[in-house]
Amino acid sequence: MIKLLVFGLALTFQVVHPAVLPERVSASVCKKSSEDYTKCLLDAFEHARPYFVSGVPELDFPGIDPLIINVTSVDRTLNELVSIKAVMRDVRVTGLKGVIIDDLKADIDKMVGEIRLTVPRCEMSMEHDVTGQLLIIPLRSRGLFKGNFTNIQMYMRAQFKRFEKDGIEFFAIDKFDTKFRVGDGVIKIVSKNPQLQFSADLITNFYNENPRLVMDAINPIFNDYSNKVIRQEIDNYLAKVPADEFLPE
Ligand SMILES: *[C@@H]1O[C@H](CO)[C@@H](O)[C@H](O)[C@H]1NC(C)=O
Ligand SMILES: *[C@@H]1O[C@H](CO)[C@@H](O)[C@H](O)[C@H]1NC(C)=O
Repeated sequence: MIKLLVFGLALTFQVVHPAVLPERVSASVCKKSSEDYTKCLLDAFEHARPYFVSGVPELDFPGIDPLIINVTSVDRTLNELVSIKAVMRDVRVTGLKGVIIDDLKADIDKMVGEIRLTVPRCEMSMEHDVTGQLLIIPLRSRGLFKGNFTNIQMYMRAQFKRFEKDGIEFFAIDKFDTKFRVGDGVIKIVSKNPQLQFSADLITNFYNENPRLVMDAINPIFNDYSNKVIRQEIDNYLAKVPADEFLPE
């Protein structure tokens, strides 16, 4: 009740910093003293799944299904065979709501968490502008990219630390590691310039005939990119809500 009141006041005065977790979310937060913290966390995830999926407006959290990224970019050279320079706009991913938690470990004293997830299937679309090299295929494409991917496995490990701001403690990520493996995929590219559709088809066919080969080749780029983006996102939300809200005694 008090939380709700504080939250209401915060909104009234537009002081959204620090925020409190809305009660429908905080109801499933695990106490530090929980008998089985990991089990509690698993239950909490299931309880909070609808909010992960469709978002928590009070925290400006837009939700993960659909996952929308307005604009993002990658510029990485792995070696002479694999380099990607890309700007991606209007990225839209659906299907993440089907995420399955395969394993979860949490050590509350060491503030370390480990999670393994599987997304059985997701669909992705985006406007892209890419140059680079993908094994034997030169990358040069601009237009609409669509892809359907299956059996996406993700491992995430985070070490958290506390920090203080204006006398209030918050969590932040200290060390972070993610690993992805996309099981299979089918893509389609519609070139903006019809005269370049040939080059787009070259990429499409090469990928669709060798999804494993291509995904393994670009995996380090994908991993580094996701690492950076996910870490930033998590830190962003951790910095909004005091540590006590996430981990009450
Ligand atoms: C993304 O674009 C939408 C629509 O233009 C806008 O409402 C939203 O604030 C943008 N998001 C970010 C993070 O810039
Ligand atoms: C992805 O799957 C949908 C059906 O769910 C299909 O309509 C679409 O053509 C597929 N996209 C690709 C790139 O194969």
